[in-house]
Amino acid sequence: MGEAGCDVRDIEEAANILVNARHAIAFTGAGISTESGIPDFRGPQGLWKQYSPEIATIDYFLQHPKEFWLFYRMRMSTLFTAKPNRAHRALAELESMGVIKAVITQNVDGLHQAAGSKNVIELHGTMRRAVCIACGRAYPMDVVTRKIDSGQVPPLCDECGGVLKPDTVLFGEPVKDFDRARELAMISDAVLVVGSSLTVYPAAYIPLFVKEMGGKVIIINMEPTELDYIADVNIRCKAGDAMEKLLEKIIEMRKQGTTVTQ
Ligand code: APR
Repeated sequence: MGEAGCDVRDIEEAANILVNARHAIAFTGAGISTESGIPDFRGPQGLWKQYSPEIATIDYFLQHPKEFWLFYRMRMSTLFTAKPNRAHRALAELESMGVIKAVITQNVDGLHQAAGSKNVIELHGTMRRAVCIACGRAYPMDVVTRKIDSGQVPPLCDECGGVLKPDTVLFGEPVKDFDRARELAMISDAVLVVGSSLTVYPAAYIPLFVKEMGGKVIIINMEPTELDYIADVNIRCKAGDAMEKLLEKIIEMRKQGTTVTQ
């Protein structure tokens, strides 16, 4: 849909909600990183269109660590070259303006932090490091890729010889920092969802918690999501375009010192 899809009225309504919110948070998924060259999972060119999601389960990792790491090594090549895009930068700017208080993300690419976001909760962990499943020792992912590229597949711990695992949450594992994320959602009166199909739980509870507490839900997504029915504003266009326009409108509203009335 691209730029043409960003309805000006929706952008204005979303900006009005965020400027008037007491405590707004962002909730992001893989769709915010596709413009950085990282494929999403369920979009038209999503990873789960080419591979079975079974490869991202903890059982598959434990039974087939070599095949698992060969899949992850392919993913890491896009991850290492990826840079934050307009949407990540706009979110970091909104946090520095005090409009967005935190980013709760399902992504493991670290691009929110790279863009300057400070208060980030990575529900599904991070691809930036791996840990030994036996002794817990952590390794930066570039060290791990050197092990793999030198033929050590699966990569092993230097200390105890145990198998290393990316510090991401695989299907079948508990998510990270969920209590902290839920507490944030429960005190929020607005959530800006960017680039998620909202199909994976418990992560997708976050916008639901905000809604249940009487908060407003804004969804920016190129395709329909599973939670469109709870959206107060549904912006069906590219995250980069929408976030740039949203930031512009919020800066304009702040300058005028006035906001569009509901
Ligand atoms: N702008 C807006 N929306 C986009 C863009 C874009 N540039 N690119 C993709 N999208 C949309 C897609 O249409 C899709 O609906 O982003 C959504 C991404 O949804 P998913 O691929 O399902 O990603 P996500 O919601 O983050 O998946 C959640 O599933 O596989 C697990 O652990 C993995 O964290 C992931 C979780």
